[in-house]
Amino acid sequence: MEQASAKILIIDDDSQVRYSLKRVLGSHRFAVVEAGSGREGVEVASREHPDVIFLDHRMKGMSGLEALQHLKGVSDRFLVVMMTAFGTTKTAIEAMKFGAFDYIVKPFDVQQVLELVNSALEAKADRDKTEAYEPLLDSDDYKEGIVGSSQPMQEVFKQIGQIAASDVTVLITGESGTGKELIAKAIYRHSLRSAGPYVPVNCATIPENLIESELFGHEKGSFTGATKTRKGTFEICDRGTIFLDEIGDMTLATQTKILRALQEGEIQRVGGSSPIKVDVRLIAATNKDLEQLVEEKQFRQDLYYRLHVARIRLPKLIERNEDIPELVDFMLQRLGKQGNTEVRRVSANARTLLTRYSWPGNVRQLENVINRACVIAQGDTILLKDLPQELTDWAVENGVELSPGTSAKPPVPGPKAGEEKRLSGRSDKGSTAREGDNLTDCFDRLYQLLREKNREAILKVIESEMIRRALAESEGNQAKASRFLGMTRATLRKRIDTVSNG
Ligand SMILES: Nc1ncnc2c1ncn2[C@@H]1O[C@H](COP(=O)(O)OP(=O)(O)OP(=O)(O)O)[C@@H](O)[C@H]1O
Ligand SMILES: [Mg+2]
Repeated sequence: MEQASAKILIIDDDSQVRYSLKRVLGSHRFAVVEAGSGREGVEVASREHPDVIFLDHRMKGMSGLEALQHLKGVSDRFLVVMMTAFGTTKTAIEAMKFGAFDYIVKPFDVQQVLELVNSALEAKADRDKTEAYEPLLDSDDYKEGIVGSSQPMQEVFKQIGQIAASDVTVLITGESGTGKELIAKAIYRHSLRSAGPYVPVNCATIPENLIESELFGHEKGSFTGATKTRKGTFEICDRGTIFLDEIGDMTLATQTKILRALQEGEIQRVGGSSPIKVDVRLIAATNKDLEQLVEEKQFRQDLYYRLHVARIRLPKLIERNEDIPELVDFMLQRLGKQGNTEVRRVSANARTLLTRYSWPGNVRQLENVINRACVIAQGDTILLKDLPQELTDWAVENGVELSPGTSAKPPVPGPKAGEEKRLSGRSDKGSTAREGDNLTDCFDRLYQLLREKNREAILKVIESEMIRRALAESEGNQAKASRFLGMTRATLRKRIDTVSNG
C-alpha cells in the first residue's frame, strides 16, 4: 500500500546509501528528504515533518542514538527506523530502548525497505486514530479494584450487597480468570467479619496427603514428619473467613470433614481425639461443574447443598464485553501508578480488537495482554501491532473489520525478500542499486525464473501481485478482495500465509 503523500527523511553520512534509498522510495511515490549528518537531520525533521525517518546508527559527529534522542524531543509524530551495518544485539536493543520503531541491518533489499515503510505508515495511521481511555471513571470508583458497569456485573455487586449482612456460605462459580478470587475478597471486605482474618486455601495446589493437616491441623507424632502439634486453617481462622478455592478438586474424604466442620461447627486435628469448636465462614469457588461432579459421585451432594446457600455466577468476559474499555483503563491506571508504564491510550483499531475478541482466558488473559502490550509499546499508545498474533489472527479468521489504513495482518509482501537486488550499504559498496523501473525489475525476475524452469514460482509472483493490489484497493478488506479475485476468503488467507511465511 503505497501512500503518495507520505514523506520520508533519510539521515546518513554515506551519500551512496542516501542515493539508493531515495531512488527506491522515490520510485514508489514517496516524498524523500535527506540529511548528511545527525545534526542536520534533527533540523530537517523539525522543518519538514516527515512521517518516517531512516536514521544511520554510526555517523561522524552526532551518533545515531544521540540523534534519535534529539528527534524524540522534536516530535513524537514520526517513526524512526535505525540502520546499521552490523547487527549486534547491543545496538538493536539500544535502538529499540530509545524508542526506534524498528531496526534494519545493511545491506538491505528493496522489498525489506518497502515493507518497513508500509508497516511504519500503518502503525502511524493506527496511532493517529487513537482515542484516549482516561478518564472514564474517577479513581475513587476503582478503589474496590473490581470493574464492571455491565448488567451482569451489577447483578453480582447487588448479590454481594444482599449477603453482606449475613454469615451464609457462598459458592462462587465461573470460568478460569473471571474474577472469583477477587469477588471472594470483596464479599469478605463487606461482611460482618471484615475485622477478622481472611485466609485463602487453594485445594488444587496442596498435595492430597497434606490438605487435611493444612485445614484441620495435626497432633505431634500423628504421621511421619509431624514433629510438633500444629493448628490448621480452621483453627487459625477462628471468627474469620476461609476462602476455599478450587473446591471441585477436593477428595471425598476431605469433603466429609469440611461438611462436619460446617454442620457441627467443630473439627478434629489429624491424629487428635477431641473435637475443637471453630467459628468460620466459608466462601468456596470452582471453575468446575459441581452439579456434574455430584452426578458422577465425585462431589458429595450434601456438601454441595450446604455450600450453595448463596451462589454467585461470574459471567465470562465475552458476556460483558462492554466492560472491556473500562477494564483496560483500570489496568493502565494501575500499571501507571505502580510506575510500570507510560502508556495511557489505546489506538482505535487496538480497542476494536480488544473489545471484539473472544477472551477464552477471561479477565486474566486480558490483563496479560495489556501488561505485555505496555512493555512492547513505544510511546504512550498501545497499537494493533502491540497485541499478540493470536488476536490479530482471530480478527482475520472472524472477519473483524478494522478501519482502513490498517489491516489485521500486514499486506501481502511482493516477491520474496533476499531474491531482490541488494541496495548498497557500507558493507556492500560494489553493487549499485538499479531499481527504479518496477516493471523492468519485475520482468527481469520473471525471466530469471523462466530460465530456471520454475513456472510455479512465476504464477505465484503474478498471483501475489494481484492479491497485493486487490488488498490495497479494498484497504485490507479480505472479504472484498476475495470476491474481486474470485477466490474464497479461506483460499485468500492461505495464499497470504504462504507468501508472508516465504
Ligand atoms: N472485574 C474485575 N475488575 C478488575 N480486575 C479483575 C476483574 N475480574 C478479574 N480481574 C483480574 O483478573 C485476574 C484473574 O482474576 P481471579 O484470579 O480472581 O480469577 P479466578 O476466577 O479466580 O481465576 P481461576 O479460576 O483461574 O483461579 C486477577 O488479576 C484479577 O485482579
Ligand atoms: Mg482463582
